[in-house]
Amino acid sequence: MSKLSVAIVGGSGYAGGEFLRLALNHPHLEVTQVTSERNAGDPVHFVHPNLRGRTHLKFRRMADLEAADVLILALPHGNAAKHFARFEGLAETIIDLSADFRIKDPELYRKYYEEDHPAPELLPSFVYGNPELHREELRGATRIACAGCLATSAILALYPLLKLGVPLPKDIMITGLVGSSAAGASGSDASHHPEREGSLRVYKATGHRHHAELTQELPGRFPLHLTAISTPRVRGILTTAQVFIPDGYSERDVWGAYREVYADEPFIRIVKVRKGIHRYPDPKLLDGSNFCDIGFETDDETGRVVIMSAIDNLVKGTAGHALQCLNIARGWDETLGLEFVGLHP
Ligand SMILES: NC(=O)c1ccc[n+]([C@@H]2O[C@H](COP(=O)([O-])OP(=O)(O)OC[C@H]3O[C@@H](n4cnc5c(N)ncnc54)[C@H](OP(=O)(O)O)[C@@H]3O)[C@@H](O)[C@H]2O)c1
Repeated sequence: MSKLSVAIVGGSGYAGGEFLRLALNHPHLEVTQVTSERNAGDPVHFVHPNLRGRTHLKFRRMADLEAADVLILALPHGNAAKHFARFEGLAETIIDLSADFRIKDPELYRKYYEEDHPAPELLPSFVYGNPELHREELRGATRIACAGCLATSAILALYPLLKLGVPLPKDIMITGLVGSSAAGASGSDASHHPEREGSLRVYKATGHRHHAELTQELPGRFPLHLTAISTPRVRGILTTAQVFIPDGYSERDVWGAYREVYADEPFIRIVKVRKGIHRYPDPKLLDGSNFCDIGFETDDETGRVVIMSAIDNLVKGTAGHALQCLNIARGWDETLGLEFVGLHP
């Protein structure tokens, strides 16, 4: 089988660099171009030292991009939509890692991004890149808008209960603890600030932009509230979602919902262990892997269920699920290039 050529735009960043790392091990992909304006002409491993000896590619400018089979857009928010005319003729398949095409409703976009969408006519052509929710739409898709990292962690934590319509009596409270790499190498994500990277602090008490993705993607439009906290860790997201189950429901029902909905998911693992120190999802175990680990614990007295999910924001939250989406779109084995299981200890 001949390999598909891949061009990564914004390849000096964390997300683009991570896609490159994964694509170098993919049997059907060959990365032929990686762009960076600031590093044009330099070998890729000057910026991504982990790839030394694995690729001899050099960065080129966006203006020098040539046609490829697959274009990965890993640019700061706003750039993909504003410059889409430059990209659309270059590749049959375009996968955008930014938030530009995730939100289908321009009004919802305006509410969270505080501006009119620059190209609303393009929104319907993109499939929201979350394999667990949109697998059928992803088959054969040529434009994919990959889900946000915190959104992915929260959506996967809550999806089974909401999909099965468990009648939750109270609002859902979500807290996401997010590693500093979610801000990007240049701190390009507006909700972070590079000077504050690596500290433990609340960076968005209310109004986080990924709330828009939860509103759009979670069934039932259930009232939910999201707070994001940045942590000193570099990679990883740990999310807790607190829900209350109604009288007559028990942890067995919760367990059954997750088993039913995620039974065949290759990258979702339910963590439910009574003994030992590995009883809860732990982002440390997922570094570099495409898994989302989900666990839950119930307080029988109050009916409160704490649902926990952990991912690597740069893999299952970005480059990994982008590759999973591409595998699905092309009809390949969904797990190709994503077999790494993480490290322990
Ligand atoms: N980090 C994450 O965990 C994560 C998770 C999900 C989604 N994403 C999304 O992925 C995208 C990239 O994020 P990132 O974390 O990789 O950011 P990043 O580390 O700051 O990288 C941004 C990339 O875009 C290039 N760039 C910056 N400004 C540019 C401009 N005006 N025109 C052209 N190129 C420009 C940068 O390189 P040069 O300046 O050298 O050109 C760099 O290659 C963002 O939209 C982000 O929201 C990131």
